[in-house]
Amino acid sequence: MKNGRICRIGILISGRGSNMLALARAISEGRLPETEIAVVISDQSSAQGLLHAAERGLETLLIERGGRTRALHDQETITALLARSVDLVCLAGYMRLLSIEFVEAFRGRILNIHPSLLPAFPGLDAQRQALEHGVKWTGCTVHFVDEMLDGGPIIAQQVVPVQDDDTVETLSARILLEEHRIYPEAVARVVLGDYEIEGRRVKAKGER
Ligand code: GRF
Repeated sequence: MKNGRICRIGILISGRGSNMLALARAISEGRLPETEIAVVISDQSSAQGLLHAAERGLETLLIERGGRTRALHDQETITALLARSVDLVCLAGYMRLLSIEFVEAFRGRILNIHPSLLPAFPGLDAQRQALEHGVKWTGCTVHFVDEMLDGGPIIAQQVVPVQDDDTVETLSARILLEEHRIYPEAVARVVLGDYEIEGRRVKAKGER
């Protein structure tokens, strides 16, 4: 990713936007260097994150599905990202699967945060899945996005314990704290080009 200029990220959200804010904070606090947020895009008009982004002075866009096919909806999003010279796309609670066309347009340049230790509990309600399965440890994962649901190479993970009295809410809150820490760290690694991919393994450069 590193090419000597500021990396412009586009953040896609559908709701609360706390991971989007974690990235914005990391940038303003210098923990996510050489990076700026070019645009925050939501597919949902009700997304609270749009308000938070606007309050921080970030450009926001609402691109709703509006009964269109996934490909047509994604095309509008791709065009908006390209028009703003976005280098890296960060999904942050974006509740839509990306089309092949989207993955192709930003191949290797789309990241996602997921609230489980992938490949365990992909898809919706990962924290509920973990509780119902009865695992003692779960966590969160930052990964590259490819055609597979929550399936691309893993950049970072953090383990979180499950406690006996956990509810979906308490477990989600404990995981979210770690999400807010590992997402900016993982984005920084990608922005700084501090990785190489061998098969499915994302490794520090030079580590063999
Ligand atoms: C997070 O738990 C994230 O891992 C998942 O969706 C949730 C989004 O939360 N993909 P927020 O909108 O970032 O607050």
